[in-house]
Amino acid sequence: MSRHVVLVGAGDLGADAISVHEALAAVRRPAADPPHRLAGYLDDSPALQGCSVHGFPVLGPVAWLESRAGDFAALIAVGDPTARAALRRRVQGFGATLATWVHPDAVRTSSVSFGDGCLIMDSTSFTVDVEVGRNVVVNPGATVAHHARIGDDAVICPGVHLAGRVVVGPRVFLGTGSVVAPGCTIGADAVVGAGAVAVADVAEGARVAGVPAKPL
Ligand SMILES: CC(C)(COP(=O)(O)OP(=O)(O)OC[C@H]1O[C@@H](n2cnc3c(N)ncnc32)[C@H](O)[C@@H]1OP(=O)(O)O)[C@@H](O)C(=O)NCCC(=O)NCCS
Repeated sequence: MSRHVVLVGAGDLGADAISVHEALAAVRRPAADPPHRLAGYLDDSPALQGCSVHGFPVLGPVAWLESRAGDFAALIAVGDPTARAALRRRVQGFGATLATWVHPDAVRTSSVSFGDGCLIMDSTSFTVDVEVGRNVVVNPGATVAHHARIGDDAVICPGVHLAGRVVVGPRVFLGTGSVVAPGCTIGADAVVGAGAVAVADVAEGARVAGVPAKPL
């Protein structure tokens, strides 16, 4: 677990991820903890090649990792769930492992689990018996209550609140400040708009917004 990390995606979420990197570096985690030493970014955008983002170089396109998968762990830093899933599969296809970064200020009990590849940001909280899948982003200020389940590749935006026993399917996008009421299931690939309050189940692939949330 001593590999350096490459952030896959040098856009807004890639920049935000630096806040977690700096916080982890500041607390000098022991060697047994997940790797958090950052080598730089990978991004397929031609405009970003040779650039640096918050002091870290864009090392090359995602394919850069293919011949170096044994030396670096990947952390996907892209905010679209479908793109996250595709990038996860791509880097895993190279044989790369996924790094998980949990901000030291995230509050969680011992019964909370994070899958490989999660990016958990500051001021988040997870109470008890919470399962977070692989490659999930939980942005600052989000709260997740008891017995919640969050599927692979989901994106939880800032200030989201998930009540108890909520199930969030894979590749779901929960917009900034949205709320999911107790026991509701958000189906795979659904989008919940910023500020929405989901008071009932949301169907797979649905796009909902408003209070109470209704299909767009
Ligand atoms: C829900 C969302 C995904 C819809 O995006 P879209 O498909 O591009 O929708 P549009 O912007 O074309 O808007 C379509 C209609 O829905 C309305 N609408 C869009 N988002 C809404 C929201 N969050 N709440 C209420 N109404 C909303 C628009 O006003 C528009 O209404 P109109 O047809 O009467 O003019 C988007 O608006 C949203 O809320 N995204 C969250 C972004 C976010 O939180 N990002 C955080 C990054 S860290």
